[in-house]
Amino acid sequence: MTEAQIISKKILAEYENTRIIKIEIYSPAIAQHYLPGQFVIIMVSEKGERVPLTIVETNLANGSINLIFQEIGYTTKLLGKLKEGDKLYHIVGPLGKPTEIKKFGNVLIIGGGVGTAEAYPVTKALKQQNNKITTILGARNKNLIILENEFKDISDEIYITTDDGSYGIKGFVTDVLEQLLKERTFDLVYAVGPVVMMKAVSNLTLPYNIPTIVSLNTIMVDGTGMCGSCRITYNGSIKYVCCDGPEFDGHKVDWDEIINRNKTYLLQEQTILKFIQD
Ligand code: FES
Repeated sequence: MTEAQIISKKILAEYENTRIIKIEIYSPAIAQHYLPGQFVIIMVSEKGERVPLTIVETNLANGSINLIFQEIGYTTKLLGKLKEGDKLYHIVGPLGKPTEIKKFGNVLIIGGGVGTAEAYPVTKALKQQNNKITTILGARNKNLIILENEFKDISDEIYITTDDGSYGIKGFVTDVLEQLLKERTFDLVYAVGPVVMMKAVSNLTLPYNIPTIVSLNTIMVDGTGMCGSCRITYNGSIKYVCCDGPEFDGHKVDWDEIINRNKTYLLQEQTILKFIQD
């Protein structure tokens, strides 16, 4: 086994042209230094882009890390084509600040889409600190729900929503959140998923003054604070998601700026995707 080699690969979910895949990668140094909340940046090929992916689990005995990703753009589709035994061109990490793990009390975890995978290691660590965990997981439909059993094992209470009502509660994670906020309070809300979802969650918890941590997934290049591509405005100042984050207080994030900046390469992404399909 050599550094960055794929030990195993498993398709977790599949629907139409969307697949969510788990890969186990040999990288003993990253596995050894990892803490929940941190991520790696991978390159599939020498001329490819650099993509940040959250580390979901580590296996110290195997010297490996697990990554879960959705085939959404050109690079993740290339990554999805790799087989067991293939090697990534490059991997660097662990990057970013670890999550603050301590006893908060009543914690509400919200995972949307593939963000569910990113929420998993944090939830597990918070459960180990004896927090009471309520979880809301959301996906477009039943086929795209991942890690349901894993979350059931570490949650005191769990709600699952699907946009089309094919499983669990019909609607969005924010529908359940709104209802729960009317009934009780939480000491912490931790949300990971699409930017619009994290924005909506933060807007809902703000009037209740509930601390709300979000894990941001902006465009990144170097991952060390030098290129500026992951820049956000946070509480009126500039922050870099790769080294000041990826977690931030959702009430202080300039969400609209992130939504706009994430569209920077939309045209190129659409063009290259068409190319890969042709
Ligand atoms: S990725 Fe370059 S500054 Fe964060």
